[in-house]
Amino acid sequence: MAGQTEFPVSQTVRQSPPVDLSQQYDAEWLRGKHIIVTGGASGFGAGFVKKWASHGASVIVADINTDGGSKLVLELRKELDNPNIHFVHCDVTDWQSQVNMFKEATKLSPHGGIDMVVPNAGMSKPDMLQMPKDLDAPEPPPPNFKEVYVDLIGVLYTVHCAIYWLPKNPGSVAADPASNPASNKRDRHILLIGSMASLAPIMMQPLYGASKHGILGLFRSLRASLYMYGIRINLLCPYFVETGIVPTPARLLLAGGGMGRVEDVVEGATRFAADSKICGRSLAVGPKVRVKEDSKGGFEVVPADSPEGEERALWEAYREDLDDSELFMRNFLKLLNSIVRIRGWAGWVKDVIGAFSYGLRSGK
Ligand SMILES: NC(=O)c1ccc[n+]([C@@H]2O[C@H](COP(=O)([O-])OP(=O)(O)OC[C@H]3O[C@@H](n4cnc5c(N)ncnc54)[C@H](O)[C@@H]3O)[C@@H](O)[C@H]2O)c1
Repeated sequence: MAGQTEFPVSQTVRQSPPVDLSQQYDAEWLRGKHIIVTGGASGFGAGFVKKWASHGASVIVADINTDGGSKLVLELRKELDNPNIHFVHCDVTDWQSQVNMFKEATKLSPHGGIDMVVPNAGMSKPDMLQMPKDLDAPEPPPPNFKEVYVDLIGVLYTVHCAIYWLPKNPGSVAADPASNPASNKRDRHILLIGSMASLAPIMMQPLYGASKHGILGLFRSLRASLYMYGIRINLLCPYFVETGIVPTPARLLLAGGGMGRVEDVVEGATRFAADSKICGRSLAVGPKVRVKEDSKGGFEVVPADSPEGEERALWEAYREDLDDSELFMRNFLKLLNSIVRIRGWAGWVKDVIGAFSYGLRSGK
């Protein structure tokens, strides 16, 4: 695209290069990090909690499922000999519940701050069957859009809180693709959980599809702006995976085809979580298949017992997004950066004086 080299958007917003899956990372880099996982009581969330706590992370299981979440925490504390695993009740659709959960999670942090937030809670149902009925009645009840409240509004609430709390993490510095994850003791990371339904249409579940497309839009926009808060953001988009969220009609339609595996989702999430130099990247998680590169630089599936190729479940989506960005964003970013440059030290001094005089006036 014209202008790409003269103004590399990806560098300006501190995006890291495409994820190199052949590069090793160490889950031990998570030791001592304090992480919130919404919907942590079952499925992917429980998988993340178990894996990360087994590498010495301190984890908050935030869920509406009090029995399941508390039981999981007790089991894992014993099994992993890690006392820093806690259940905090949270209904992600309730703003005050999220605010309380973040405050509680901060209090429970061994170092007083939050390193990573995973807005993972979700639900689904076959909502195409929810046809509009009797809307010509005098006062028809509003439609039930609960999925949008859990899968999109709940995530927006969590992300809103995360943007407030992550930069306050004591000892954390702005996320940086050039940093060394082995020595980054603190982090500021949001890991969004999208879906294949973020990337492709999903029949019978338009509310789920709309919500998950919303998560993709949120990710694509935030990865261009969160650098201003020093926060890194990444996205995982799993295909259908065997957990409680997959409804029976979907299971019937998937019969005979492959499904994704929880361990591959956990593997993708752990790479993002541990490797703090990965900023603004997304991975789709499909069924594990054997593939080899074809002559056009793409991939073709080969039989599972073939000596050629490699087994793979993780694929990067929207790799060149930012460098293909359109004029509005490109110019807007140029403008923001010019303002920072023009204001320079004089602007900084003015802001500092302004902050002190605010403190004196307000007593805060
Ligand atoms: N399993 C799949 O096929 C699949 C595929 C792509 C994306 N996802 C996404 O992965 C995430 C996790 O789903 P899962 O597959 O582990 O399903 P799951 O049903 O096992 O887990 C969802 C968790 O969210 C919790 N939850 C639901 N409503 C909540 C609320 N209002 N407040 C707090 N917690 C709430 C549930 O109690 C549960 O513990 C979801 O965002 C889902 O959309 C799942």
